[in-house]
Amino acid sequence: VTIGPEDLKRRMAAVAEAIELDLDRLLPPSDGAAGRLGEAMRYATLGGGKRLRPFLTVASGELFGVDEAASRRVGAAVEMVHGYSLVHDDLPAMDDAELRRGRPSCHRRFDEATAILAGDALQALAFEVLAAPAVHPDPAVRVELIRGLAVAAGASGMCGGQMIDLEAEGRDLSVGEVERLERLKTGALIGFACEAGAILGQAPDAARAALRDFAGALGLAFQIRDDLLDVEGDVALTGKDQGIDAASGKATLVGLLGVAAAKNRLDELHERAIGALGTFGSKSGVLRAIMEFVIHRSS
Ligand code: IPE
Ligand code: IPE
Ligand code: MG
Ligand code: MG
Ligand code: MG
Repeated sequence: VTIGPEDLKRRMAAVAEAIELDLDRLLPPSDGAAGRLGEAMRYATLGGGKRLRPFLTVASGELFGVDEAASRRVGAAVEMVHGYSLVHDDLPAMDDAELRRGRPSCHRRFDEATAILAGDALQALAFEVLAAPAVHPDPAVRVELIRGLAVAAGASGMCGGQMIDLEAEGRDLSVGEVERLERLKTGALIGFACEAGAILGQAPDAARAALRDFAGALGLAFQIRDDLLDVEGDVALTGKDQGIDAASGKATLVGLLGVAAAKNRLDELHERAIGALGTFGSKSGVLRAIMEFVIHRSS
């Protein structure tokens, strides 16, 4: 079954709307003793973002008959870690970005200390959510999800990639090194979002391997597209500062090889991703459409 761009947009919007409500229920209130912290956590996660990662968990869960509410809870946890990563990524000590999702970045709306704490607390809340029985009745499945998210977020995933990203500023990395950093800082969390559906569905190893292969291509493509948008995107659509990669000497594939070569790489990754989905046959329509969305997106 082929899912066209309009159909995908509708499906993504429906999941995004539901995720907004899930997050709203799971986040702490903005009044009370630590009200400012709750307010900053809400500011960082509500009312914006494509919600691609939760959508991926829902889409991969659908392959294995997982109930959408369960996939969304896991997706909400991933979105919390993602939101935390953006808040910290924007800090003056990191990318020093002023704009996020079309609004002042968290540390500019609040202050640096609050932004740091909001990120920390979002990460902790993500694991609290995964530990709750509503995610899955079998504690072994929940532990597998917790471990998977921990690995994706930590030193051998997102944080590790962010470290390499910062150390690479102003230095020349090889294509292989740049791709490795992009797979870590962005691909790892996207990979977990995809695999989570298979974990929830207790899918066979072969299906999980295929999904990992798909997610590997998708995650790298996602970051390459992000790097392209930093060069040729429209701030009104991205809602982020333009040109900060070049200004801070970031190591990106676009910076290293240029726009045309980066787009060729996207085409290769597209083929790779579609190939990996072969084993799912006609059920893979949504994931195929997501890949197409990711490489052409303008926000
Ligand atoms: C931005 O992620 C940060 C990267 C990993 C490139 P998204 O483009 O998914 O950001 P939102 O959630 O839609 O704002
Ligand atoms: C950051 O990559 C990825 C994260 C882990 C947050 P970027 O620094 O390119 O993300 P944007 O462009 O600020 O969203
Ligand atoms: Mg960054
Ligand atoms: Mg950044
Ligand atoms: Mg970027």
